[in-house]
Amino acid sequence: MTDKGFDFTLPETNLHFGSGTLERLGELAKDYGKKALLVTGRSSMRKLGFLEAASRLLADVGITVTLFEGVEPNPSVETVESGMRLGADADLIVAIGGGSAIDAAKAMAVGIGHKADKIWPYIRWEIPITDKTKPIIAIPSTSGTGSHVTWYSVITNRATEEKAAFGIKHIYPKESIVDLDIVKTMPQNVTAETGFDALAHVMESYVSKKASPMTERLCIDAISMIAQNLTKAYTDGSDLEARYNMALADTYAGICITPSRTILVHAMGNVVSGLYPEMPHGRALAALSGPVMRFNIERGDANTVEKYCDITSALGDTSSGVDKEKALKSIELMDGLRKSVGMDHSLADLGMTRDSIEHLADLSLTLGRGAIDCNPVDPSRDDIIKIFEDAM
Ligand code: NZQ
Ligand code: MN
Repeated sequence: MTDKGFDFTLPETNLHFGSGTLERLGELAKDYGKKALLVTGRSSMRKLGFLEAASRLLADVGITVTLFEGVEPNPSVETVESGMRLGADADLIVAIGGGSAIDAAKAMAVGIGHKADKIWPYIRWEIPITDKTKPIIAIPSTSGTGSHVTWYSVITNRATEEKAAFGIKHIYPKESIVDLDIVKTMPQNVTAETGFDALAHVMESYVSKKASPMTERLCIDAISMIAQNLTKAYTDGSDLEARYNMALADTYAGICITPSRTILVHAMGNVVSGLYPEMPHGRALAALSGPVMRFNIERGDANTVEKYCDITSALGDTSSGVDKEKALKSIELMDGLRKSVGMDHSLADLGMTRDSIEHLADLSLTLGRGAIDCNPVDPSRDDIIKIFEDAM
């Protein structure tokens, strides 16, 4: 029994979940205006025919569509600003694709709404973001970032090699369409990378200092769903039940990370991809999760150890008891899951070099401050360096 108070933020997003839901795009979009900027990644949505379908559904209800194609993984300031110029007169922004396309679209909605030329001052809070932000409709093609229900967007400044997340209620998508016919097209590597991102979100959010009874149950359910379905979705992409559960876990995770945040894993993982933009977000997290979990369990208080024991159980362990040994088993089980989906690599395997560790530790402490403040153990600069070394 606890009487600990908490804050919880409800997403301001209408969610439409299931096979074939893309068909509702026109009907949902028409309330938001006459001109849409339709934003997508490099090629997958065009090749699979979903981009054309989305364009047609918007055109069918009288919406004029301007297409912005080519958002890259870990989207850049330049990409966002090109979209802002192309869609300067758009009433609404529709994103179809992975978290990168959705995040880029969120930042474009801010830039276009505020008639801005430059987006970085908004991302870094130098200029306030207001309700002038254009409405966003998100159609995720991956199951991992939760961006379709979060108030975050993560953008990379290639000039300064900084990757920064910003979060504000104005960028909640107004409508989100999670169509299983779209997410089931993910190839194995994307399924594994994004599935691991979702797992990281809920494992982190569960132990976060901002965890609450509103998010803890969703986190535990999502961890179990991912433990039971990620390998299935990876082995047989057409397994609709596994895809359904992964997409649902991703959505739970998004709902949790807005109020309860992520922790040190994301603080460190995000700065790594600022410096190494080719490194998939989920892969950086997979390499960092074990070392951060070990640090938190070894240095954490009794409550933290108990929470990691809950994660061990949610990952499938049936033993009872609460002790460090059981808590540490969460790492073993997570590693097993990593292996089963081809994600057992180190940061060095992913191309990171040792000479960037100190710089990345400094960046984690500044750009990742919000997430670090939620870590159950307060890490020093040396602790962060040691964790990076353990992940190499
Ligand atoms: O660009 P295309 O051709 O679409 O290909 C993409 C890309 O190469 C491909 N892909 C996506 N869906 C596909 C597909 N290929 C075939 N079939 C499909 N159905 O996958 C590759 C990766 O796409 P990307 O959008 O980069 O992946 P993801 O969804 O993992 O998004 C990662 C981005 O989201 C941010 C990350 O930092 C990263 O920049 N995050 C956003 C969050 C948020 N807004 O709340 C929270 C997360 O922690 C995360 O940081
Ligand atoms: Mn993430």
